[in-house]
Amino acid sequence: MARTIIVSNRLPTKVRRTDEGLAFAPSEGGLATGLGAVYQQGDNLWVGWPGTFLADEAEQNQVIEQLANDHMRPVFLTEDEIRDYYEGFSNETLWPTFHYFPQYAVYQPQLWAAYQAVNRKFCQAVLDVAGPDDTIWVHDYQLLLLPQLLREALPQSTIGFFLHIPFPSYELMRVLPWNRQLLHGMLGADLLGFHTYGYMRHFLSSVNRLLGHSNQNGMVEVGQRTVLVDSFPMGIDYDKYATTAASGEARRLEQEYRQAIGEDVHVVLSIDRLDYTKGIAERLRAFELLLQTSPELLGKVTLLMLVVPSRDQVEQYKQLKEEIDELVGRINGDYRTINWTPIQYFYRSFPPEELAALYRLADVALITPMRDGMNLVAKEFVASKTEGRGVLILSERAGAARELSDALVINPTDTEEVARTLHRALHMPPSEQQQYLASMQAVVRRYDVHNWVEVFMNRLAYIKIKQQVMATD
Ligand code: F6P
Repeated sequence: MARTIIVSNRLPTKVRRTDEGLAFAPSEGGLATGLGAVYQQGDNLWVGWPGTFLADEAEQNQVIEQLANDHMRPVFLTEDEIRDYYEGFSNETLWPTFHYFPQYAVYQPQLWAAYQAVNRKFCQAVLDVAGPDDTIWVHDYQLLLLPQLLREALPQSTIGFFLHIPFPSYELMRVLPWNRQLLHGMLGADLLGFHTYGYMRHFLSSVNRLLGHSNQNGMVEVGQRTVLVDSFPMGIDYDKYATTAASGEARRLEQEYRQAIGEDVHVVLSIDRLDYTKGIAERLRAFELLLQTSPELLGKVTLLMLVVPSRDQVEQYKQLKEEIDELVGRINGDYRTINWTPIQYFYRSFPPEELAALYRLADVALITPMRDGMNLVAKEFVASKTEGRGVLILSERAGAARELSDALVINPTDTEEVARTLHRALHMPPSEQQQYLASMQAVVRRYDVHNWVEVFMNRLAYIKIKQQVMATD
């Protein structure tokens, strides 16, 4: 029977080495929850890296066996591959370029060689398990070459590709060496999906200017094949977030946190992976400006800032961590009192029930990335606000701002605007909060992750049929 094979750099389960041996835990990020319903069905499978270097064959076998029970097949990376393909080309070349930070991008042939080699390695791992009738769904910027590698090996196969980060303007793409090879690699898919119409337009423009292929309604002729390009804003598992937030445990924890923070203290919540794209330092400066300009809020507002460790071997991330530590220390040093801490900063990940309690507790969610493909935290906050109170402040440069236009949408570079908007959010009447939330909840509930998967898969089936019809014409 035909299966669906999901392929991404990271598996939804990560392996860690502990004193007691190998430990398995869910990976961070929305992808795993989103695709859980797909890869766990029937004989479906998820192919990807378990997140740790495992040289030992016995350990590798243990991981293969354990993950097989949960429909996963690991691709093991060597230490050099982790450094050059994952930290290197993926996160020091593509990531900064695609997020409009070209000044952080490095262009090194050695990293490019590793990227090509690991994409080939993933291709082989997929070929080891895929049959000609299977549907292969490749995810994200670490595997841009994989669709075309698979196409060469399995010319008739059904291949979808989804990019979870922004696709940048042609002006960024033209700077990137190997840009034509990367676009060519992506075009091996039958269907290419992006979070927003804007990213899709940028992609089509680069394909046109760098490869000379024009498009008609998102259809690109590549040799004898028609490739469809479209936008699919990713959603969340709405019911899961709403149910967890309404649970007794989340309510109990919320009360506990409320008592610790103080009954009359407003809570502003910020949650991100540690990343320079997230605008964390700029957000701290905006919060500092709020304290400077609104003395009546001193002692009355706390920023709860959760930063999830990420890519800590990459230089820019190490520097950012130091900058955040310093800023938090300085602002707290300037403003704190015996009874009040302006910024409560946590550098670790949180379990779902605690997150749900924090979403419940928050009066305002402050989500101000400089660039973000989508930002699922914004949608999680909306879904978790089951009592109809809370204000979302959202960067205009997060993909989510296209759908969540009832948030207070700001320019994250404009510190004064962010501080002003925070002030407005903290004083917004409950009826207004409820009105904005209700309209955002309707959108997030309707276009949830299940809908996202269904629409993507339907479009993939559509383009395959269209290709067949065109071939017989
Ligand atoms: O946002 C892009 C993305 O690759 C997500 O899919 C993932 O959750 C996140 O970045 C984490 O990245 P990494 O795998 O490098 O920890």
